[in-house]
Amino acid sequence: MNLLGKLSLDAIPYHEPIIMITLAVVAVAALLLVVFITKNKFWGTLWSDWITSVDHKRLGVMYITLALVMLVRGFADAIMMRTQLAMATSGDPGYLPPEHYDQIFTAHGVIMIIFMAMPFMIGLMNIVLPLQIGARDVAFPFLNNLSFWLTAGGAVLINLSLGLGEFAKTGWVAYPPLSELSFSPSTGVDYYIWALQISGLGTCSRRLTFW
Ligand code: HEM
Repeated sequence: MNLLGKLSLDAIPYHEPIIMITLAVVAVAALLLVVFITKNKFWGTLWSDWITSVDHKRLGVMYITLALVMLVRGFADAIMMRTQLAMATSGDPGYLPPEHYDQIFTAHGVIMIIFMAMPFMIGLMNIVLPLQIGARDVAFPFLNNLSFWLTAGGAVLINLSLGLGEFAKTGWVAYPPLSELSFSPSTGVDYYIWALQISGLGTCSRRLTFW
């Protein structure tokens, strides 16, 4: 049985310098973060006070942090798009091939709306709402934590297709027939669907959280 399905090392776009340099920068930044946390012995407090916290204010801060990280990610896409639009004039094709521009365009829309604007609003709601009504916390604090991690899991997954396979080329709304198999035969829409479904489960459980 092939556990990884169609996934193989060929899914990594070695021939795309922009993607490979981005991946290297992300890997170095992640490594520096791990070193910083380890050196300052933050793992314990990170685990017990933040990652597993059910406190609505802390979860609010975690949502807003996720939103700010995704803002930087979406902003990087925006800069690439604006540069391409500025360069590609009077017969000059610019630096991005059309299929790469379409992926960046879609990634920018999805990330800015689903993983930046939404977590930002939800973070503010988490902090303010229980205080406004004088409650100690939301109705189901554990679900609040679960919802956050489903959203964060979706964000990680959607960003994986930056360096694995490819992103959807459908625009952020992914309307059919463009998102159907005949017009989007590669893996991009699959990654898009899974990431949005997982973060969507987070949104469902968040509704219960506030009841
Ligand atoms: C930081 C400054 C930003 C710049 C320079 C920027 C730039 C762009 C550009 C160049 C496009 C593509 C337009 C085209 O090719 O027709 C675009 C699309 C889009 N942007 Fe932004 N953007 C920015 C911030 C945002 C923010 C904050 C959001 C949402 C909260 C957002 C949401 C979208 C959406 C939904 C699309 C359409 C994507 C699609 O149809 O698939 N953008 N943006």
